[in-house]
Formats: sequence, structure tokens, C-alpha cells
Amino acid sequence: MAARWPAAAAILIVALQLMPVHRSNPPATADLSAPPEISSMLRDACYDCHSNHTRWPWYSAIAPVSWIVYRDVAEGRRRLNFSDWDAYASDPGTARRKLTQIADLVIAGKMAPWYYRALHPRARLDPAQRRIIARWAATQAQGAGR
Ligand code: HEC
Repeated sequence: MAARWPAAAAILIVALQLMPVHRSNPPATADLSAPPEISSMLRDACYDCHSNHTRWPWYSAIAPVSWIVYRDVAEGRRRLNFSDWDAYASDPGTARRKLTQIADLVIAGKMAPWYYRALHPRARLDPAQRRIIARWAATQAQGAGR
């Protein structure tokens, strides 16, 4: 009986691969425009989950990791999508709220999430870089809708 477990596990893992996960990148028409230093940090540290320019890693094709990555990207894009920036900017309250959240979470070291930083060295922003992003976001927030 016990000898059957590895076979059962192997079949289960193969079966999991049959469940479709849609790893899509919708068209990006309205990306945030920021000074190059800022955009390059945001691209390295945030765009995989918060834009339509996700670089889907190879392991994101393999269940169950694919479900976790998919959930992060779907939830990340829903909350904050740098590729929808035009829509945010057309509503000053929204732009101000998003920018304030960016400043707060980046300075607190809560974004990008720790497990993402563990896998992506370029997403590990040092304290000086975090301050630069937070200062930029806070300044932009003040400018929005006044
Ligand atoms: C691995 C995917 C991932 C990366 C990379 C990532 N985030 Fe997030 N982010 C999420 C998820 C998922 C949520 C929503 C759930 C939560 O708050 O934990 C979120 C929430 C947020 C929110 C809150 C939005 C709201 O409406 O509540 C902000 C702001 C944010 N992230 C900014 C950033 C910034 C700035 C970076 C880069 C420095 C970044 N994130 C990197 C996945 C990510």
C-alpha cells in the first residue's frame, strides 16, 4: 500500500498541470511616466505584479506554483497597475491614494513582498532607493488634483 504513494503523487502532479492558468499580458497603453531612475526601480521591483509587462518565470508554468504566481499577478494588477496609470491620473483622488500607498508600503519595506525579493535580487531595494521612491511618490501625490 505504502509503495503506491509515490505513484499516486506523480499522477496527481501531472493531473494538476492540466488545469489551465492564463498567463497573459494585456496590452499596455497608458503606462506611468516617471524619471528614468524611478521607472527603472519600479520596473525591476514592482512591474512583474503591478503592470501588464509581467516577465512570467519558467516555474510559473508549473502547478501548483503557477496558481500562486497567477494569484499574485491578478491581485497585484487589480490593486495597482502601472499600465493603467492614465486612468488613475484622470481621477486625482485615485492617483493621490495610489501614490500615497506606494510611498507608505515602500518605505515600510512591505513591497515588493519578501518571497519575491528572495527570488529576484534586482527587487531588493536598499534604504536609499526606498527613500527615493517614497519621496517621488509623496511629491507626485501632493501635485495630484490640487
Ligand atoms: C510578487 C508580486 C508583487 C510585487 C513584485 C509587488 N507587489 Fe505590491 N502587491 C502585491 C499584491 C498581491 C498586493 C495585494 C495584497 C497585499 O496588499 O498584500 C499588493 C499591494 C500593493 C499595494 C496596495 C494597493 C491597494 O490598493 O491596497 C501597493 C501600493 C503596492 N502593492 C505597491 C508595490 C510596489 C511599489 C512594488 C515595488 C516596489 C510592489 N508593490 C511589488 C504583489 C506584489
